[in-house]
Formats: sequence, structure tokens, C-alpha cells
Amino acid sequence: MTDFELVKLALEAREMAYTPYSHHKVGAALLASDGTVFKGCNIENAGYTPTNCAERTAVFKAVSEGVKEFKAIAIVGGMDNLKALPICAPCGVCRQVLREFVEPETFKVVLAEVDDVTNLGKLEEEMVHTKVMSLAELLPLGFGPENLSI
Ligand code: THU
Repeated sequence: MTDFELVKLALEAREMAYTPYSHHKVGAALLASDGTVFKGCNIENAGYTPTNCAERTAVFKAVSEGVKEFKAIAIVGGMDNLKALPICAPCGVCRQVLREFVEPETFKVVLAEVDDVTNLGKLEEEMVHTKVMSLAELLPLGFGPENLSI
């Protein structure tokens, strides 16, 4: 699975975002160690705080299906009226949720800027510009499961 392929799946997921309040649509594609990809979108709520981010939707879908080992996640996001998407970095809560299940130094977070999302069928690799970071870079000195082991 290339970074571009994973970004394309994140863009597909973004199409499903339910965002009547913020109009900010996010998509994530989470690559499991066995090669399976779990897609997630953000799902908002009239109560605002129950909103679930795209990244967490993907993680919770995977874990609830028994998959808990992951290699990478691609994330795309931006306001729903944009032609070009800027980089959308994961929020702090999502970084922490990922921290639970991955090896921070090796887990790859693929953040993508996309030149034109108006016709995903015509998306080409040159239109996608990625910034790849490890989870350790995004969440330095994180608190994880090993902190609670004796
Ligand atoms: N959002 C995500 O889905 N992922 C992030 O990492 C940042 C924020 C969503 C939550 C909310 O529906 C909207 O973007 C605006 O915050």
C-alpha cells in the first residue's frame, strides 16, 4: 500500500463526513499490520461534544472488529467548500487514542495536502503532497499502556 493509495482511501472516507455544524470534513484511512484498511470520517452531533473525529472512528472500527496492530494512518481534511485541502493534523485526543495501539517511533502519520478534491475519480499522484511524521513526533513523551504496567 503506497502513501498515495492510503490518501485516496482517506479522501473516500471524507466523502461520508457528517458535519452539519462545523462544515469541516475529515477522512482517515488506518492501515493495519495485516494489510486491512479501516476508513473513518468525522461524525458531528447537535450536542457538539459527542462529536467523533475521523481518526477515532477508524481506530474504533478496527478495534471493535478485533484488529489492534497498525502501521500507518492517512488523514485529509478541510472545509466542505474548498477545492484544495490544506494539511489537517490530528487533534490531541486522536493522537492519544492512536498512542494506545501503536509503536510511536515507527507508526507513520501521512498528512496530505490535496490540490483538487472536486473530482476524486480524476485524482492523480502529482495533486497530492504529503508530510509524513511518526506518532512520536506528533506526541512527544506520550503516556501509554506501558506506564500502567508493573
Ligand atoms: N476533526 C477531525 O475529525 N479530526 C481532527 O483531527 C481534527 C478535527 C473534526 C471534528 C469536527 O467534526 C470538525 O473536524 C471540526 O473540529
